[in-house]
Amino acid sequence: MEFPRVRTDFLFPTNLGVIAEARPLAVSLEEGAAIEGRLSGREELLLYVLARRAAEHGDVVEIGSFKGRSTWHLFRGLADAGSKHRVVAIDPQLLGTDEEFTANMAATGIADRIEVRKSFSYDEAPAFGRQVGLLWIDGDHSYAAARRDFDDWFPWVAEGGWIAVHDTVDLWYGPTRLMRELLGRRNDLARVGVVGTITYMRKTAPSPLNRVRSLAGRLGFELVTLARARVMGRGPMLSSEDERAEFGVPDRELERRRLRLERRIRTFQTADSDHRHDVEEAIGAALDDILHHLTVTTNHDNVAARFGPILDAARLESGLELTAQYARLEAVTTSV
Ligand SMILES: C[S@@+](CC[C@H](N)C(=O)[O-])C[C@H]1O[C@@H](n2cnc3c(N)ncnc32)[C@H](O)[C@@H]1O
Repeated sequence: MEFPRVRTDFLFPTNLGVIAEARPLAVSLEEGAAIEGRLSGREELLLYVLARRAAEHGDVVEIGSFKGRSTWHLFRGLADAGSKHRVVAIDPQLLGTDEEFTANMAATGIADRIEVRKSFSYDEAPAFGRQVGLLWIDGDHSYAAARRDFDDWFPWVAEGGWIAVHDTVDLWYGPTRLMRELLGRRNDLARVGVVGTITYMRKTAPSPLNRVRSLAGRLGFELVTLARARVMGRGPMLSSEDERAEFGVPDRELERRRLRLERRIRTFQTADSDHRHDVEEAIGAALDDILHHLTVTTNHDNVAARFGPILDAARLESGLELTAQYARLEAVTTSV
């Protein structure tokens, strides 16, 4: 099974181990890759290998199934390892994708071999009561929810089991912040790796050495984030004085987010077709972040000045499929 290597894999010995493990396997993941979703080929391979590894430790818990793309890869890994454990697919199907999820699971013949829970992760966690070999977090991407998913489910993860979190390395703020809080701080995590935007790690017995091990993972994590930022574009912050002159009231956090959005829209305009999807996802994340910031701040005086021109530019960009988020931001900018 070819697991294409990229330069940053050398930052993570754990990645190299996963790649070596995949190489001799004769498996086709094409059936799963045909299900709609936002996993890259390398991310799918990673989930497959981690589910195989989970087989000896316990169930695979998936938080956020959407149309079943990751569910399929997790199932395949567990089944190919001959495991008696189950994939538990938890998703309240907030995006109305139940029918497609069910149809995809039936069409690929796995519907009655997985455990589907149409429910919120936090409602399922307290009474779960089984050992988890792989915890896959890809549900609500807000910081509070990502943090809660980790805290609620980590106790169920077996020692030696794995945790994988999607949309980190700055693609989404919530999962990225969660990683920054975990890596280098806890003493029960080791073998950290990053593949695509998934950060994954192993739960181990507590040991002071693990802080150092996961700190090395954190360093790799930050380097990947920087490398991604080069693709997504970086730009300087305005000084407080310039910000005051331009927008009246300084709001450093909002300004940081505005610049990030602006950069990502610019990057989108020049991105090649391979990267457009990723950049578009990043723009969506930046917009959600701004909308969230506006719900927790009372200072809206300068919102229209800050975002009006960006929205005008974005409206001209016919490729972007983020109409709903733009409309929400526009509603905020015109209501003040
Ligand atoms: C990014 S999608 C998941 C994509 C999926 N893992 C895949 O590979 O295609 C996020 C999903 O999380 C679900 N979700 C949101 N909040 C959740 C929660 N608290 N528990 C479980 N799922 C949740 C949404 O309904 C949505 O379907």
